[in-house]
Amino acid sequence: MSTQGTVRAVTTYRLSEMKQNGEKISMLTAYDYSMARILDAAGIDVILVGDSAANVMAGFETTVPITLDNMIYHGRAVARAVERALVVVDLPFGTYQGNSKEALSSAIRIMKETEADAVKLEGGEEVLESVERILSAGIPVMGHLGLTPQSIHKYGTYSVRAKEQAEADKLIRDAHLLEDAGCFGIVLEKIPAVLASRVANELKIPIIGIGAGGGVDGQVLVVHDMLGITNEFSPRFLRRYADLHTIMTDAFTNYIKDVKNGDFPNEKEQY
Ligand code: KIV
Repeated sequence: MSTQGTVRAVTTYRLSEMKQNGEKISMLTAYDYSMARILDAAGIDVILVGDSAANVMAGFETTVPITLDNMIYHGRAVARAVERALVVVDLPFGTYQGNSKEALSSAIRIMKETEADAVKLEGGEEVLESVERILSAGIPVMGHLGLTPQSIHKYGTYSVRAKEQAEADKLIRDAHLLEDAGCFGIVLEKIPAVLASRVANELKIPIIGIGAGGGVDGQVLVVHDMLGITNEFSPRFLRRYADLHTIMTDAFTNYIKDVKNGDFPNEKEQY
């Protein structure tokens, strides 16, 4: 829903149509009003208020520390900006795993306090009860399988997931469970392209990949990574569409120089 109370043009139903028509789905993260406005005006289909905000906005090493209040702050800023794209907000670590009633109240807080359109959460069978309870309240849910950064302390590494047959089999099972429960889509992160493509072919709901190859129904990237604001993070799957780190550094150093020299402000830049 937009702040005007009207349904945004991109709905979960529209995403399902896009999959049926073979139209690829574009998705990027955003965490603030100004970025979300630019993304929405550019025509992005889905904006994810990812818990990667913990990394790129707050500077934490993992996504574990970000809170529900933090996610609601970011979600509200993004949802206020967006008129067209579907807005999905991540449920942060610790707000849905242990107890499905708590999962539902976390999801309800996100929906009421941000005016986003859907929530996303990580995991398969182990969080199925939470998924089902959230869905039963009429809240659209997106799944997230493969590399699930909230479980970093279990796996100890961000390397490619589901390379072994047993883990690949579990991922396929989990994807079917999420679809059968009623999820409207699934993010597959950092898994072999062949496996991701198999899941996209077997499932009717849209599969959005990040580091999962081109055989899925859409792609998502973290906006700071694709804009080249974060220049120390270079996984193989990342394509940089700009080098904002250099552009911003040049702008900042020129501003500092102009202030120090007394060149800014000039006569036309004052009252
Ligand atoms: O938090 C996030 O940005 C995500 C994407 C990597 C899919 O979950």
